Amino acid sequence: MASQNSSVVLLITGLVLICFASCSSATTTMLAGSGHPAVDFEAILLRRLSFNNTATQNVSDIEHVGVAQVVETIGYLFASPHTLNQTFDKVPELQYHAFWEVVESAKALEVLSTHELPAHIDAMTARVAQLPTHLCWPVLRRIVLAALMHHRLQHGPLSTDASTAVVRLCVQFFQLHRTAAARKGIIDFFHISKAGGTTFCQLAKLNGCRTQSFAARRNCLIREFDDVPRWVNNSLHNHLAPRGLRTPWFANWGTKQRNPVSCQIRKRFMLRRHFNIYANEFTVYGAQRVPRNAHVCPGHLNVLQLRHPHLRLRSHLMWVWALYDHTFREQAPAFFPTHGLPHWRSLLPAATDNYYVRSLLGESVYFLPGDNLTQAHLSAARLAMTMFDVLLLLEQPSMNEVLYEMAIGWGLGFGAVHARTSTQVHEVGRQGLPEAEEWQQLLKRNALDLELYRFGSLLALLDALVFDVAKESGLGSGYSAVGSEGGGDVAVVAGPRAVKPGDDEQWELSRGGGGGDGGGDGGSGPAARRGTCGFVSAHEGDQALPSWVVV
Ligand SMILES: *[C@@H]1O[C@H](CO)[C@@H](O)[C@H](O)[C@H]1NC(C)=O
Ligand SMILES: *[C@@H]1O[C@H](CO)[C@@H](O)[C@H](O)[C@H]1NC(C)=O
Ligand SMILES: *[C@@H]1O[C@H](CO)[C@@H](O)[C@H](O)[C@H]1NC(C)=O
Ligand SMILES: *[C@@H]1O[C@H](CO)[C@@H](O)[C@H](O)[C@H]1NC(C)=O
Ligand SMILES: *[C@@H]1O[C@H](CO)[C@@H](O)[C@H](O)[C@H]1NC(C)=O
Repeated sequence: MASQNSSVVLLITGLVLICFASCSSATTTMLAGSGHPAVDFEAILLRRLSFNNTATQNVSDIEHVGVAQVVETIGYLFASPHTLNQTFDKVPELQYHAFWEVVESAKALEVLSTHELPAHIDAMTARVAQLPTHLCWPVLRRIVLAALMHHRLQHGPLSTDASTAVVRLCVQFFQLHRTAAARKGIIDFFHISKAGGTTFCQLAKLNGCRTQSFAARRNCLIREFDDVPRWVNNSLHNHLAPRGLRTPWFANWGTKQRNPVSCQIRKRFMLRRHFNIYANEFTVYGAQRVPRNAHVCPGHLNVLQLRHPHLRLRSHLMWVWALYDHTFREQAPAFFPTHGLPHWRSLLPAATDNYYVRSLLGESVYFLPGDNLTQAHLSAARLAMTMFDVLLLLEQPSMNEVLYEMAIGWGLGFGAVHARTSTQVHEVGRQGLPEAEEWQQLLKRNALDLELYRFGSLLALLDALVFDVAKESGLGSGYSAVGSEGGGDVAVVAGPRAVKPGDDEQWELSRGGGGGDGGGDGGSGPAARRGTCGFVSAHEGDQALPSWVVV
């Protein structure tokens, strides 16, 4: 296997070099007879194959993604229809015969010769065009893109005809995604704590979404859904607490059972109030006792944002330390007889031990003791991730631009500025971190999360190919970045640009919007699209909700 991988590495290296020399001008060629520039799948692929990591700290893991990992990811995806079926009870795509048909046809790509490719891909496109439009089909989309990537790795660049056929297929997946997002009508944002979720919620507000509250302490959560995170070991907190202190909301690990709310009830609750986004900062639904029942709600547009797990972890510890400092002032030290690794691990049992894997597998895994997660959990978490309609990577702004515009339909997304934690949190929080050696141990114990993150990054990359193609095909409607330094300065963070425990962030549009570099067609920049919430709000102007809205 290893030698096979390395020969593929050589192969792709050679292809990339050849292509950089000869094909890069292809993006600008025009399709004969149409005024539209031909979309060059090969050029998009080569552009996306390198990650631009903007993480300013010493975090380079994602850049180490090599062909071996791409090949491994493709392997997981090819196996996923069966492993999903074995692992989870509720994977809506698997219920459709057409899903299995398209999967078979995707796998068949491998043995096709170059001249058979266009017709085969067009047949897949025709099949995809007939899929029911209440799902975004993220699993299928990623399997098909993996198959195309696989073919590319083995056989080299696609012919012009094949490339054109691939573009049609990607556009079809995009149309399906957009149509389904509109039918779903609400964004279900899976907020992994300290992975940029606060900013996402504020961006939802700027983009005109509606929810129960955008206040920083509510963070798009719906009170009745009970999706607050469970962070601090309640029993340890109480054990350490000086007499007479009230127990804060975040000391809820191990005592606060979630009050389960079904997908149907969530959907009706949202629609009745005309809300179109909410966040879930706890775990996926349904797996309090039965791990197989872990699921996302198929009637929601499910969005997951990932941040490098080491940065997430660091940020989480600093935040909790600062939260204690803020809440208990001079009594805060009582809760930290030490700030060593063992203490942090018993204080934040889930958040310090592969929090992504735990969150993605439901309560029965979330509450497992430390060190009880295995490769089997990692595999299941990978599968759980494939079911999210949209995957965002906090540290990949150029990819996110495309995903915000083309996968969510928002005109405003992240630019160079994120909702930063205040310097105060940094200064205070840093004091709470374990010493360097223990910190390294802690990172080692979170190795499953790092693996999961790499997998998720590659899934996001496959998605970005589809959405890039759609954008280059002229199907976007413009995007500008909040606080981008390149002139698209349509929004600012008012007040101190900082989040402190207990603060409300105050993000506002500064002027009437204009001036964004809305890079799409037709000049409908963000100003024109204020007051909408992207694709999920497509039907909200309708007098009555269409009867086929998915509940
Ligand atoms: C990555 O960064 C380089 C240099 O900043 C830029 O030229 C390139 O377009 C970027 N690639 C992507 C995919 O954003
Ligand atoms: C970055 O991390 C690597 C591996 O952990 C380490 O060897 C290197 O010294 C670090 N670089 C800096 C600038 O901290
Ligand atoms: C899915 O799993 C069920 C049992 O859990 C099995 O009966 C069924 O045949 C499986 N379907 C496929 C297509 O593998
Ligand atoms: C939670 O705290 C209690 C002490 O009150 C401790 O016995 C227990 O081990 C902690 N749980 C975890 C998972 O560390
Ligand atoms: C957790 O792991 C320990 C050993 O590492 C094992 O004895 C125990 O049964 C495990 N618990 C669960 C719930 O898997």
